[in-house]
Amino acid sequence: MNVLILGSGGREHAMAWKIRSSSYLNNLFIAPGNAGTALLGTNVSIDVTDFSSLKSFSLKNDIDMIVVGPEVPLVEGVYDFFRDDEDICHIAIIGPSKEGAQLEGSKDFAKNFMNRHNIPTAQFKTVTLDNIDEGNDFLDSMTSPYVLKADGLASGKGVLIIDNINYAKQMLAEMLNGKFGNASKSVVIEEFLKGIECSVFVLSDGSSYKILPVAKDYKRIGEGDSGLNTGGMGAVSPVAFADEAFMQKVKSRIVEPTVAGLRKENIDYKGFIFLGLINVEGEPKVIEYNVRMGDPESEVVIPLIKSDLLELFIGVTTETLSQKSLEIDNRHAVTVMMVSGGYPEEYQKEKIIEGLDTVLDSNVFHAGTKMVDGKVLTAGGRVLAVTSFGKSMKEALQTSYNNINKINFENSYYRKDIGFDL
Ligand code: AMP
Ligand code: GLY
Repeated sequence: MNVLILGSGGREHAMAWKIRSSSYLNNLFIAPGNAGTALLGTNVSIDVTDFSSLKSFSLKNDIDMIVVGPEVPLVEGVYDFFRDDEDICHIAIIGPSKEGAQLEGSKDFAKNFMNRHNIPTAQFKTVTLDNIDEGNDFLDSMTSPYVLKADGLASGKGVLIIDNINYAKQMLAEMLNGKFGNASKSVVIEEFLKGIECSVFVLSDGSSYKILPVAKDYKRIGEGDSGLNTGGMGAVSPVAFADEAFMQKVKSRIVEPTVAGLRKENIDYKGFIFLGLINVEGEPKVIEYNVRMGDPESEVVIPLIKSDLLELFIGVTTETLSQKSLEIDNRHAVTVMMVSGGYPEEYQKEKIIEGLDTVLDSNVFHAGTKMVDGKVLTAGGRVLAVTSFGKSMKEALQTSYNNINKINFENSYYRKDIGFDL
């Protein structure tokens, strides 16, 4: 098979690394990719939302399958674009239709979907400028802290958690007046849930599904989960509190009703479902849906899959996933993200990365890198995800930290406490 992966981060490098080992693979392309994916396939300089260029590239290179990394092309309808064009409808897309992608593209859609299918989640109310008074009344009826979410995609910045009621009302007004552009013309106000979070990944062919290893990511820049939010500073899998009893509840109360609900509503969904869950005293509730794999969770979840990933994807597109087996490595996997000086605020770029060839027993997945004149340079805030396995989480972390000490770029930073809360 000829496969095209869309995206350029650590998630896409991990997918490329896994797909490279598939017995079904012929040629691998990554658009746009990074310095790491360039070693596994051919990077192609096409924007992930430039569907007409993706079409001509796919026809020219006889692409059989497109694996979509990030959410934006899905929310913009890449699945539908290929499905509805007779020249390219034979190309399989791993990812949901535009309608299915609303689970991530619209918080209001996701909350109503959960209500229709009795899936446990925080109480909520959606408001626009027209009924801001109802929004303020709803805030008055809740207790602090207050959760405000932009309805649409806001690059992970659209959620505000606020202690003070007056400030919450002020922020509600600012959001509705365009604080996050069109994304916050509608705002979901939510009940605050207290608990510990985890990420559950499901691969579905629209009727059956497989649950992948559970992961936990670390979003804050500082140790002890302090400071500004980032795209993710590290991840671990498995997650101790997501034990058999908890996962049984996740399966029966969340995964099954989600897959069945999509089917019942005739929503075309062949791809990953990412459940952002919170454990509220042993009871799982959905904080959010995403319609893709997580990053940096992919850098631990994908290496733990022992089965051939393309075979599973073939199961997804041919609706035979139930006949495929999913084998999981029983070790612990961790990934620690090395980031640029300054990140997540304005950060430095184009620093030379050295020492990558000295790494032993870890996989270094590139997140923000580029190759210039044979040198690997930093090209993003999150630069490298250093993934290791171990019999315990601690052992895996030690291997990652040992290797991080051998990798150098000016002003690099990483958290030394990944997994601390488990
Ligand atoms: P989201 O983009 O919906 O995942 O929200 C971003 C982060 O905000 C989540 O990972 C949680 O840490 C937090 N969060 C979102 N909704 C809630 C809620 N209802 N209660 C508590 N924390 C929340
Ligand atoms: N790590 C969270 C995400 O990918 O959205």
